[in-house]
Amino acid sequence: MVEIEGRIDSKWIHSADPPQLIKERQIDGKSFARVAGWGMYVPSRVVSNDQLVQLGVDTSDEWIRERTGIKQRHLVSQGEATSDLAVKAGQRALDVANVRSRDIDLIIVATCTPDHLLPSTASIVQDRLGAVHAGALDVNAACSGFVYSIALATGQIESGRASNVLVIGADVLSAYIDWPERSTSVLFGDGAGALLLQSSDEPGVLSATLGSDGSGAGLLIIPGGGTRLPPNGHTLGNGDHHLKMNGRQIFRGATQMMERAAGAALRSSGLKPEDIELLIPHQANQRIIEAVGRKLDLNPEQVFMNVDKYGNTVAASIPIALCEAIEQGRVKPEDHIMLVSFGAGLSWAATVIRWGTPLPVHRPFYVRFKQRLGRRFSAIRSIWRRWRRRLRGIVERFSSNGSAL
Ligand code: UT7
Repeated sequence: MVEIEGRIDSKWIHSADPPQLIKERQIDGKSFARVAGWGMYVPSRVVSNDQLVQLGVDTSDEWIRERTGIKQRHLVSQGEATSDLAVKAGQRALDVANVRSRDIDLIIVATCTPDHLLPSTASIVQDRLGAVHAGALDVNAACSGFVYSIALATGQIESGRASNVLVIGADVLSAYIDWPERSTSVLFGDGAGALLLQSSDEPGVLSATLGSDGSGAGLLIIPGGGTRLPPNGHTLGNGDHHLKMNGRQIFRGATQMMERAAGAALRSSGLKPEDIELLIPHQANQRIIEAVGRKLDLNPEQVFMNVDKYGNTVAASIPIALCEAIEQGRVKPEDHIMLVSFGAGLSWAATVIRWGTPLPVHRPFYVRFKQRLGRRFSAIRSIWRRWRRRLRGIVERFSSNGSAL
């Protein structure tokens, strides 16, 4: 048995401002990070529990609902990759914020299922969004990746190095599922969600805490395909590229560490449990979510859940849940929202956000038109750049042949 330990208190990466300090920081001229836009995208293919049974998985709708709360999941179709979902979610977040792609300073894509080992999925997203002035990187902290990325983005904004950071959580874990393996195949779905964080005079992200316990690395792992077990015929034959999980240990760790991480982020923000209007936990299992809510003394109305519709979408689960909570009117201006996650690594993270954006957001038609036009233009510019590089290559080859003669 692997014991999960964590000293969260020593791991603040960004200590929040207790309310009395907020004023001082404004006088210092430092800015805060607030949520300015949000968006989600899930693939159109919906697979119900019964359809999994029809596909030959040795399970039942009753077992899956009872043990996990999941009723269905969205899965990608052939040819659909992580960046395809990420771009759509990112575009929607930009639309809501009414921010142009060219004004983004940094794109962070939280994913453990990138399009390729390299380049980063974030670079592909940067090109497709036409974010010509943005840096781009991926963050792999599995299911905790989105909250980790919020913390990193907040640091960039508060230090004055960025004004607009697009944070996307996107995963296509279905690519690594061993479908006949019922202990994992019924749990996961594909999707993407995004937040645009923007510098502001008003506090937004109040606190964040991150943690990790690598002694539990083997509990949730895709063993093959990296440098430890490089891909070859043997690893493929062995199924080493499939996700392996010790469900019971992960279950125990999730309830323990999500409670502790949430408590730590709350203390750091200077708030009490009753100040939190909505908890958005990582959506892995209804029983885990309910247990975390109970341990934090929150009533069920304070805890958001949509695992029934999407399953566990890994780094995308929290932003997808947040987008749906907004759509359902469960997030109001000035609310305090807590995000808390747990996943492979082991890793965990929590953040408290003060919701400042007035809702709902109305975008006039000409703004939407301009944004659509901008996207078309960036697609054309990307094609032009590829062709220009190719032509340069041809010209250089000819000229070097000429000089060799
Ligand atoms: O983002 C983090 C990623 N993962 C998680 O958060 C997952 C955390 N773990 C869990 O959610 C739960 O442990 C599971 C849902 C994976 C499993 O639930 P459980 O109540 O812990 O079941 P179990 O593993 O203890 O298995 C109980 C029984 C076993 O049968 P026996 O040995 O008692 O005869 C399993 O073989 O249920 C069986 N079983 C299934 N039966 C029907 C396991 N999976 C299935 C299935 N359908 N899909």
